[in-house]
Amino acid sequence: DASRIRSHIRSHIRTVQDWPQPGVAFRDITPLLSAPASLRLIVDALVARYRDQRVAHFAGLEARGFILAPLLAYELGAGFIPVRKQGKLPYRTLSQSYDLEYGQATLEVHVDACAPGERVVLIDDLIATGGTMLAARTLLERLGGEVLEGGAIIDLPALGGSARLRAAGLPLFTLCDF
Ligand code: PRP
Ligand code: ADE
Repeated sequence: DASRIRSHIRSHIRTVQDWPQPGVAFRDITPLLSAPASLRLIVDALVARYRDQRVAHFAGLEARGFILAPLLAYELGAGFIPVRKQGKLPYRTLSQSYDLEYGQATLEVHVDACAPGERVVLIDDLIATGGTMLAARTLLERLGGEVLEGGAIIDLPALGGSARLRAAGLPLFTLCDF
């Protein structure tokens, strides 16, 4: 059930204090990914959420969204779209800048990554300020995609991202919070 899943996931996330810089409590998902039962638990929970949503593409947000989005796409017969950091994609791109908990960055997507009207779900490991998710939504919507929601493992509600997404009209689905 949902609360058992949440506490299992929480107990497999490692907190690294002061990384990558002082004051940040970094939530590390690698213990969750390396334990076979935990990996299956999180993928199954996200697959159940999106099974009947007729999702055309799961857009993974670099870097940790690249771990999850292709697993969901494969299982649900959808495609994978990489939303990458600036300068990584080879073909023509759209760009969108955004602020981070610790810095500033630009995301890019290929101009032909999705067709107008296609149903897209955005996938990342974690929501902090929400800036990454909102920049990705802007990119996919500029391509004409219908962005259904953002999905992630972890929400950090104290950093305000989930409230910011709600205010911006982007639904969010997460498996646990800290
Ligand atoms: C982290 C995380 C999310 C984003 C969340 O990635 O994986 O993508 O920050 O923060 P936000 O909600 O404030 O936008 P990061 O930008 O550190 O890049 P990385 O995945 O390359 O480490
Ligand atoms: N991205 C932004 N803030 C983060 C945090 N506290 N832990 C892991 N990834 C993050």
